[in-house]
Amino acid sequence: MLSTALETTKLPQIHTPLPGPQAQAIIDRDTKFISPSYTRSYPLVMQRGTGAMIEDVDGNVFLDFNAGVAVCATGHSHPKVVAAIKQQVDEFIHISGTDYYYPHLPALAQKLSELAPGDDDKRVHFGNSGAEAVEGAIKLAMFSTHRQKLIGFFGAFHGRTMGALSLTGSKARQRSGFGPQALDVTHVPYANCYRCPYNLTPESCGAHESKGPHCARIIEDLILKTTVPPDECAAIIVEPVQGEGGYVVPPASFLHTIRSIANKYGIKVVADEVQAGMGRTGKMFASEHFDFVPDIIASAKGIASGLPLSAVIASAELMNWPPGAHASTFGGNPVAIAASLVTIELLETELLTNAAVMGQYLLEGCRNLMEKHEIIGDVRGKGLMIGIELVKNRTTKEPAAPERDQVEIECFHRGLIIQGCGTSTIRLSPPLVIDREQCDFALQTLDDAIGAVTQ
Ligand SMILES: Cc1ncc(COP(=O)(O)O)c(C=O)c1O
Repeated sequence: MLSTALETTKLPQIHTPLPGPQAQAIIDRDTKFISPSYTRSYPLVMQRGTGAMIEDVDGNVFLDFNAGVAVCATGHSHPKVVAAIKQQVDEFIHISGTDYYYPHLPALAQKLSELAPGDDDKRVHFGNSGAEAVEGAIKLAMFSTHRQKLIGFFGAFHGRTMGALSLTGSKARQRSGFGPQALDVTHVPYANCYRCPYNLTPESCGAHESKGPHCARIIEDLILKTTVPPDECAAIIVEPVQGEGGYVVPPASFLHTIRSIANKYGIKVVADEVQAGMGRTGKMFASEHFDFVPDIIASAKGIASGLPLSAVIASAELMNWPPGAHASTFGGNPVAIAASLVTIELLETELLTNAAVMGQYLLEGCRNLMEKHEIIGDVRGKGLMIGIELVKNRTTKEPAAPERDQVEIECFHRGLIIQGCGTSTIRLSPPLVIDREQCDFALQTLDDAIGAVTQ
């Protein structure tokens, strides 16, 4: 049941100090019973949601520009998604796809196969989370190549299960206490042109030439010649747009060069589309922006509007492993798939377009904010995956990390839900249903919040 506050507004209404009394009571209980390894930046306690709006337990209404960390692509509790879930629950909730058949598995697998980049016939393996998709993708690459070494990127986040954690190169605290790593991974710098680790520019690094940028070429010129013999390298795992690492958009030639190095040595390319995929960037898969065709795609987050579901997508020729090689009791749960089929339909019919249009509007708005606020060092993004990087000084580019955290909190108190990523980047990852008025509110709130932090 929607509350009156949620029904009557598509902009925030804050009535209590935050957190309000009900919220505080729940936070106290949470602190007592929930693992302290969770990372909460501010005290949002959700009661219900609709579209891009969230109501908390004290009746305050927020505009959600995070979407449960880039998950609720169709907005909160989209009526068509809710109806599909309810219908499925009435029919049956579970019968493990690892052991039995049901119509949902091939229906969604066929859809994903048709949508994924590349012309080959494809097959799909379902799991429950982003990390699980990454684990499945790595296992498939290892199985099909009979090789074990992997190459990943600094700044990458692929999850926290032991295999995915070996690939994650994001924050030391994610690894601290969990060594030695399970997998043999070599990390190299990602194509972050705003902070080129080699002090080059797209004009000087080869990004605009056929040889490709230095940051990709180094895989062949250095890594495969020294620590990772090519005939032992199973896969290069790359996010087409880096997510937790700071919403970093690489030049297309970075991905193309990786692709051609991999082709030369029989290495598989895994695209981790967990955060950037399923319409967030205005295309179904972020790889499409770059005409990049990976061998294996890992997808999750937005794929089922909030129900736990992930998918590994690869050519039928590649996904050719025997029964028992890889499976999961809950992976491809019928309720999650019912939600996913409707999610994809909504993406195709309206939300991809909205993500592209609103994304462009928001990007331009953020660039205007950059004219006004010296602390904004860079604005970048594709569709509704936008990063605003804060720096103490535009010349030294020293990250303004505490200021970024403060802006998040200032936005929260003004009713806007955003989240950080990277060292000092604000990420905007709203539900793909947002409209112009909500974008204007977000831009105005960012303007006010940044102003309050920098005054
Ligand atoms: C690119 C990417 N891969 C994998 C993951 C892990 O997903 P999950 O938290 O569902 O395991 C994330 C989560 O943020 C992600 O952004």
